[in-house]
Amino acid sequence: MDIFGDMGTINIQGESQKKLDVFANEQFIAALKSGGECCIVASEENDEFVHIDGEVSKNAKYIFAIDPLDGSSNIDVNVAVGTIFSIYRRISVDGRATLNDVLQKGTEQVAAGYIIYGSSTMLVYTTGKGVNGFTLDPSIGEFCLSHPKMKIPEDGTIYSINEGNYVHFPEGVKKYLKYCQVEDEQSSRPYTSRYIGSMVADLHRNMIKGGIFIYPTTSGAPNGKLRLVYECNPMAFIIEQAGGRATDGYDRILDKNVTSLHQRSAIFIGSKNMVLKVEELMRTHSSKSPEERAAEKMEKLGIVGGID
Ligand code: AHG
Ligand code: MN
Ligand code: MN
Repeated sequence: MDIFGDMGTINIQGESQKKLDVFANEQFIAALKSGGECCIVASEENDEFVHIDGEVSKNAKYIFAIDPLDGSSNIDVNVAVGTIFSIYRRISVDGRATLNDVLQKGTEQVAAGYIIYGSSTMLVYTTGKGVNGFTLDPSIGEFCLSHPKMKIPEDGTIYSINEGNYVHFPEGVKKYLKYCQVEDEQSSRPYTSRYIGSMVADLHRNMIKGGIFIYPTTSGAPNGKLRLVYECNPMAFIIEQAGGRATDGYDRILDKNVTSLHQRSAIFIGSKNMVLKVEELMRTHSSKSPEERAAEKMEKLGIVGGID
């Protein structure tokens, strides 16, 4: 089967789609259609969300958001990739579900999970009552509970960031990277740098071993790269449920207002004390201007365009 390489198309994020991105997207949507539980699927690979109409989904109560294939740059080189998903309860009561049903805050998630296609295939899943990991047993075609009650260590020694972008990072992140690299026996520094380039794989390792994953704003991507609905919110829900922390460097990811489907966000996620440390340095060295704070406050209150 010809599943490797570029599709020759560009998605809404301006990223070139791989054949496997498109294939995975079609497979998940088809499965969700026949499942009958979801009325909408919002996917990183589709410009607009997809309505799931039909007899079987007529009374469906759930909204499904998905990054069908995470880490696409690793597909053709046999490195671990993943899938990330998130489930919300529909809030509209009649008619067809709408965009408002999709644009819910991360705190409203009823479930979230990721699947990692690595040396084994694992599903890591939360419904808000802790996190459990299931490993696929291919001989019976079932995911079996292999990692009950997963917890991320409060401290860690691994940092994961695309350090090639160093020159474009906020000063607070630069200071944190230097902190990670200084020798200090008591805190086991220097830390170890590990970056796969698949968020699922980087976070899965850090969840088990303890560590931090950072994709900050950069001068070229002032809102960050990763997508709030498909990547940041589900991962933040999982990591918080495992006892970790997830912010945009200042504020909790799950509390962020969601104003568009493909909205991006910076993300600092992982072991609680590591995230707290980098936040401290962000506050000191990359504090937001009073104007930025005021604009955020107004956005939270739903005031658009500011006050004269
Ligand atoms: P996707 O393959 O779904 O577009 O996601 C890729 C994301 C994420 O998985 C990864 O951590 C990050 O992009 C890598 O980006 P850089 O190549 O800029 O480091
Ligand atoms: Mn992704
Ligand atoms: Mn993807």
